Amino acid sequence: MTSQPKAQRRRLVVGNWKMNGTREDNSCLLQNILADWPTLVNVDVAICPPFVYIEQVARALSPRELYWGGQSVNPNAPGAYTGEVSAQMLRDLDCRYVIVGHNERRRLQHESDDCVARQFLAAQAEGLTPILCVGESSEQRKQGQALATIGRQLKAVLEVAGLEAFSNAVVAYEPIWAVGTGVTATPEEAAQVHAFIRDQFADVGQSLVILYGGSVKPENAAELFAKPDIDGALLGGASLKAQDFIAICQCAENAGK
Ligand code: 13P
Repeated sequence: MTSQPKAQRRRLVVGNWKMNGTREDNSCLLQNILADWPTLVNVDVAICPPFVYIEQVARALSPRELYWGGQSVNPNAPGAYTGEVSAQMLRDLDCRYVIVGHNERRRLQHESDDCVARQFLAAQAEGLTPILCVGESSEQRKQGQALATIGRQLKAVLEVAGLEAFSNAVVAYEPIWAVGTGVTATPEEAAQVHAFIRDQFADVGQSLVILYGGSVKPENAAELFAKPDIDGALLGGASLKAQDFIAICQCAENAGK
């Protein structure tokens, strides 16, 4: 299994607010985050709010070296797709990232591997960095199908985008059974999958940033980030609490030192 010292890859922490927030809540959360924001040199940090709040987040974060992004994207060119948001629109709002293939979208919005691959391409075509989410259900894990499932999800994108496309992409491993449940994959479980993911990308894998997502908290972040193939986190719940968010970013900053 390949792995290399983390120092050679930049770390990344992304807060996925999911369908949470009001203008007032967001303003309070952003103020609290920025009031105590530490100096970070090893970590990039981004927040992905609901589409309607991207501008609000961008206004707050742009004076600092923090980034923002979308939680999903419609893969089509602008046109008659009521209720959807294009990659061009996200670019227009100066998004750096967009999450594609989050398990909640795959399951609840019935997004197929093929659809996720098209989102990935659409994002890159507009200069956005896709954060491609992959992960198995608890059923698939029990049946010994975790790696096969993730391999299939990665292959669907690799086949259309090619290996080189992953030099401007991030992969996030999110075991479905760990998302929003309070149950985290053990660092060993996560590390095994991260090493497997890196192995799917040949040489490009060495520079690929691979995040872990699923009930990451200040209490378990350091242990996860200590693993050589875990380059950061995709946070749900913890990104809605200023002090937890900051503490996890700080763990990423200190990891491997
Ligand atoms: P939690 O951190 O709430 O488990 O959510 C993880 C996730 O889905 C991030 O996108």
